[in-house]
Amino acid sequence: MSIQTLATSPFADQKPGTSGLRKSVSIFQQPHYLENFVQAIFNSLEGFQGKTLVLGGDGRYYNREAVQIILKMAAANGFGRVKVGQGGILSTPAASCIIRKYGAFGGIILSASHNPGGPNADFGIKYNIGNGGPAPEKVTDAIFANSKTITEYKQLAAPDVDIDRLGESRLGDMVVEVIDSVSDYQALMESLFDFDRIQHLLTNGSFRMCMDSLHAVTGPYAHAIFEKRLGAPAGTVIHGVPLEDFGGGHPDPNLVYAHDLVELMFGPDAPDFGAASDGDGDRNMILGQRFFVTPSDSLAVLAANAKLVPGYKDGLAGIARSMPTSAAADRVAARLGIDCYETPTGWKFFGNLLDAGKATLCGEESFGTGSNHVREKDGLWAVLFWLNILAVRQESVEQIVREHWQTYGRNFYSRHDYEAVQSDRAHALVDYIHAQMPSLKGKTFGAYTVDYADDFSYTDPVDGSVSKNQGIRIGFTDGSRIVFRLSGTGTQGATLRLYLESYEPNIAKHHLDPQVALGDLIAIAEEIAQIKHYTGMEKPTVIT
Ligand code: G1P
Ligand code: ZN
Repeated sequence: MSIQTLATSPFADQKPGTSGLRKSVSIFQQPHYLENFVQAIFNSLEGFQGKTLVLGGDGRYYNREAVQIILKMAAANGFGRVKVGQGGILSTPAASCIIRKYGAFGGIILSASHNPGGPNADFGIKYNIGNGGPAPEKVTDAIFANSKTITEYKQLAAPDVDIDRLGESRLGDMVVEVIDSVSDYQALMESLFDFDRIQHLLTNGSFRMCMDSLHAVTGPYAHAIFEKRLGAPAGTVIHGVPLEDFGGGHPDPNLVYAHDLVELMFGPDAPDFGAASDGDGDRNMILGQRFFVTPSDSLAVLAANAKLVPGYKDGLAGIARSMPTSAAADRVAARLGIDCYETPTGWKFFGNLLDAGKATLCGEESFGTGSNHVREKDGLWAVLFWLNILAVRQESVEQIVREHWQTYGRNFYSRHDYEAVQSDRAHALVDYIHAQMPSLKGKTFGAYTVDYADDFSYTDPVDGSVSKNQGIRIGFTDGSRIVFRLSGTGTQGATLRLYLESYEPNIAKHHLDPQVALGDLIAIAEEIAQIKHYTGMEKPTVIT
């Protein structure tokens, strides 16, 4: 087996987005495309000779081929060992768990998260650092810089490795260790949650749950944990076999894409609890019987009930949420007397807060919740957290959330996505709002008066790094907010995200449909941004 150095030339489009590099499969299949990016990752790291790399992905189309390429490149570049998930499978939170548990140098995760998979859909790759979390911007900037000047990459000329059989083999001087994809992660979950109590809930005959894995990576994890370990009846996990194209579906756990689960949970014979996770297992959606829990509310409820869960019984150091996430968690933090941090969109911004012990729970409105147990958001962790609370409180999901609103007031919240907008039109819309920003403060729209209008900028309280232009915020004097952002994960044109939030302390109004409660703000957003005009769309493609 010899190390080959192959000549290449740069691709101009390898800038990592909100969560790694995501492109269509056909782009990744161009000769040298994946290799260039992987070499750019290695070129921007120092001191990994002889060290361990963790490798795995969500099982989408091209996962297995990419694993083989990366193994041979890791060997040629001097890694000592690669721990690869069996069959190339590792959920994002499991990869984070394994990096941390074994003190690995870092990890490469192959996923385009909730984007569809298959030969005509998307693929993705992201690098995680030694704390188990997504590479911070200084690392992704270095990777991008490297990708623009790359002239060669290294790979070992060797046959493919058998990644389906557990155990160790050698690739040149490097050890390839094929590991069980689930066991380390399951052990971590057992250390945090009261499995005996959850088992009792799931086997007492009066409680039913449904977990929709959307034919994505959490299938094997959910089968092992809910059915095998916790005793839930077979069939509790649906769409539990990972498929390369996710069965043709869109592996995004929201009310639109998890439609089978939603139909079941809002139907006549609905189970007590429903949940779904995304392509790579880091997102979650929580449903009660005919009841949807917004991710923002979910974070707040988990925080308010954390002391009921063994892993968090000593309380929380702080809570962190992304800027567009509702302020429901802030109210819990205020009552608990702990700090609440507001960060830009993307899990990487939570890493420093978690490492510094400033935050214990983190959440994003985009169906992401997690804690300091790993450095990624974690879908099944959130499901287990809810099950633990349900097992202790013996109330329904709806009762728990309604009682939460009674105590803290309700933050009405919704996100409207306009997908696949022509890029230039989307940027024109942003420019149009920017042009108005200096004159918005003090302006009234019906009953609403603008309190501030700015472009969110974040100064990391740990390392002082500044991230600018993280979304346009328009705040009103009553605490309501409208936020506009362009997605950093889409692969077709641009995606405009409009986030809407208002606060309602009056219990008599808590039953309102959020789209009704937010009706005035939706109209104001249209007035300020001329969304229909710029996007050419009459209504959003997805409302959550
Ligand atoms: C989206 C979500 C964001 C999340 C990211 C990765 O990014 O909005 O909260 O961290 O996916 O899962 P966006 O497409 O908005 O840039
Ligand atoms: Zn994901």
